[in-house]
Amino acid sequence: MPDITTDVLIIGTGPAGSATAALLSTYGIENMAVNRYRWLANTPRAHITNQRAMEVLRDLGREVEDEAYMFATHQELMGENIFCESLAGEEIGRMKAWGNHPLSKAEHLMSSPTKMNDLPQTFMEPLLFKTACSRGTQARMSTEYLRHQQDADGVTTTCLDRLTQKEFTIRSKYLIGADGGKSLVAENENLPFEGKMGVGGSMNILFKADLTKYVAHRPSVLYWVMQPGADVGGIGMGLVRMVRPWNEWLIVWGYDINEPEPVVTPEFATGVARQLIGDPELEIELLSANTWTVNNFYATKTSNGRVFCMGDAIHRHPPSNGLGSNTSIQDAFNLAWKLAMVLKGQAGEHLLDSYDTERAPVAKQIVTRANQSIAETGPIFAALGMAEGVNPEQMQKNLEARTNGTPEAEAQREAIRKAIAFKKYEFDAHGVEMNQRYSSDAVVTDGQIEPAFQLDADLHYQPTTWPGARLPHAWLYRHDNGAEVSTLDLCGHGRFTILTGLGGEAWVEATARVGDALGIEIVTHVIGPRREYVDHSGEWARLAEICDSGCLLVRPDHHVCWRVSSPVDDPEAELHRALKRILAR
Ligand code: FDA
Repeated sequence: MPDITTDVLIIGTGPAGSATAALLSTYGIENMAVNRYRWLANTPRAHITNQRAMEVLRDLGREVEDEAYMFATHQELMGENIFCESLAGEEIGRMKAWGNHPLSKAEHLMSSPTKMNDLPQTFMEPLLFKTACSRGTQARMSTEYLRHQQDADGVTTTCLDRLTQKEFTIRSKYLIGADGGKSLVAENENLPFEGKMGVGGSMNILFKADLTKYVAHRPSVLYWVMQPGADVGGIGMGLVRMVRPWNEWLIVWGYDINEPEPVVTPEFATGVARQLIGDPELEIELLSANTWTVNNFYATKTSNGRVFCMGDAIHRHPPSNGLGSNTSIQDAFNLAWKLAMVLKGQAGEHLLDSYDTERAPVAKQIVTRANQSIAETGPIFAALGMAEGVNPEQMQKNLEARTNGTPEAEAQREAIRKAIAFKKYEFDAHGVEMNQRYSSDAVVTDGQIEPAFQLDADLHYQPTTWPGARLPHAWLYRHDNGAEVSTLDLCGHGRFTILTGLGGEAWVEATARVGDALGIEIVTHVIGPRREYVDHSGEWARLAEICDSGCLLVRPDHHVCWRVSSPVDDPEAELHRALKRILAR
């Protein structure tokens, strides 16, 4: 007999595990989350929070979204991505990052009701965890996952209570491995991986120091520093990262992975901080220091039977592009509603297979992107004549050379500008963050062709209602009080939604009957003049890609899963057919 039973057992309370727990509890599913430590992340770690992750928080409730903004450094303070000799030294160049370039800002504003921000993991995790526990998640801290065994009906997991040193078992219908980059769940389940762990060595030095005089006039999250050793290991260059403006910082500094791991003593940490900031007298209050490895490793299969892995457990990559916790939260958003519907008997188990079909390609994409971003720092070094390594004297000579009025110096200046501008693939890659389109049995295209990307798909988000894509955002207005509401706000919250327009009323009747027949709640909205939501600006008409009398079926995770462009003879039969396929009924 197991000691404890629950429907879903979640190993790990990081961004992936806590988001899953919060979503499952919101959907009314019994779940338990365990963490081997007594509390959540104790260092800021992930921080860049993109619009898609914020949409998940918004779906959990406006109070969750608002609390994130309350603790975050706002987008406006994130944007001047600086490359310099040191913070006190000469600036080599900069680029506007994270949606702060005026053109990029417009794309951000048009793409989502949410805003990118900088929310350190020490704030994100407690927010998600609190949301989970207050809505029903049973959390057990100081509880270490050891092993599991799955059978036809469920999973029996053995954990160690680290306070009593006693082992106990938990029986669940499903097990989630959200246990981070050294996932024992993924290892025990023998999930296949591609790539390599430990391709570079890096260290984090977390400290307090007031650096206002070096940064307040060029507010940024990231200050990239070219110093001797900056091209060794690490994430492309020496990094001084803002944690709280402007008095808490995290330095990321590389080391040669083929050499022994350095011991980061307070003296060593202070030395690195003084070197990167360029102030030999600087006093820091050292908070912590640790080493970590740069990984290039992703699961090619993310689940097996009743066991699902997510977050760093299936995608292990450097922090470049800031995709770590964002993707983990989005994994959770993909899986949670599927588990909920299967557990409530509203969907067949085959629906769960779509988690792997949809998220394994994302794991590969982001791991590849983040590692490529490290390599793309090389041209900046090359443009400064330091492809062979940073030598301080040579660097001074090269920096000096670029100030000449000669054609060679002009060519060098041009090369530096181009190399820095190219880093938008790391620091302003809105497409990487927002363009995820799914192709699986949980999406019915009825043969509609996927629209090609008109612009660079890594840099620019392209809205489409093609089944598989995330529902485009447009502001609508409530007929009764004029309040602004996003199309995304009409959907989600664990339910399917039908969006239609004037002339599409037959879809509303059909949806009610299909919902009854399948025993699921489907929300319907007719958008148009004198209806509950009005498209005063015409923005939705521009994006919807259907006639008013057509319809979009939207999944609980905001992805369109079926689209009918114009009226059909038997809407009930058509909707029934599509939903039965999506729900594997
Ligand atoms: P995460 O690692 O956050 O959580 C795993 C959870 O599982 C933890 O609660 C852990 O205690 C628990 N756990 C593990 N094994 C267990 C077991 N056997 N039993 C019970 N519980 C267990 N990203 C970024 O974008 N910018 C950055 O600057 C950094 N910096 C950074 C530094 C360091 C040192 C690390 C380790 C990672 C980063 N990251 C990062 C990556 C980012 O933090 C990461 O992508 C997310 O935390 C992933 O979230 P997960 O929930 O998947 O794993």
